[in-house]
Amino acid sequence: MVNRLSEGQLAEFDENGFLVVPDVLGTAEVAALGAEAEALYGTDSPRRTFEADGRTVRAVHGCHQIPGGFADLVTDARLLVPARQIVGGDVYVHQSKINAKRALSGDIWPWHQDFTFWNREDGMAEPRVVNVALFLDAATDHNGPLLLIPGSHLVAGTETVRPGKKAEKESWQAHLAADLEYTVSRESVARLSASADIVSALGGAGSLLFFDSRIVHGSGSNMSPADRRMAIFTYNSVDNVPGAVAAPRPDFLAARDHSPLQVTR
Ligand code: SIN
Ligand code: MN
Repeated sequence: MVNRLSEGQLAEFDENGFLVVPDVLGTAEVAALGAEAEALYGTDSPRRTFEADGRTVRAVHGCHQIPGGFADLVTDARLLVPARQIVGGDVYVHQSKINAKRALSGDIWPWHQDFTFWNREDGMAEPRVVNVALFLDAATDHNGPLLLIPGSHLVAGTETVRPGKKAEKESWQAHLAADLEYTVSRESVARLSASADIVSALGGAGSLLFFDSRIVHGSGSNMSPADRRMAIFTYNSVDNVPGAVAAPRPDFLAARDHSPLQVTR
């Protein structure tokens, strides 16, 4: 199995800010990870967040810190080798999550840029960081696939807006809810999508989606009767470890273990 991204794939990633690689994990592997995800969704923990109804699980965070299949996956060559290629050198996982996007109830993610959160909340200086998303279910036109604006990671002047403080929540919970704290302005979305058509990241279960920390992305609600679960691992350069911040987020959102990862399988 070839783990390394080709020159062509790397060039596509650089230009578009994302890359889908289909069928990387096999059916049995994905099914086992899906079962682990369900166990995590069903376990009471501050790592879990919920949809606005207060009971549908939206995500569980820090899955790479819990011994099991997701922890093993971050040092799997199929994820770690391309992450090292994209970032350029040694990496560790700054953040991980398994978004649930449940059938008929999974809510939207407004347009945003991930780097805004890591920079403003966690003190990360540079966008030397990449997301590797694993589709635990097929992502289709109807189940709220990730939407991306190609090339938006390279456009200067994208405007961040703060729709309003969520006083009733812990501040970090506002970074994870459907009413996100830092979103991209309507004007910026309009401008960016006028020059590059919005793309849906579609693919079967077991596909990987690599996406840049600055790309403008979001997703609609899940109108289908099938879940759209997606695990996302954020690999940061060990040369880009965040500095101190006044109010550090929990370890399951901004990991304190910055040891360089080695391929284990
Ligand atoms: C989604 O799960 O659709 C959005 C994930 C993200 O923005 O990181
Ligand atoms: Mn995001």
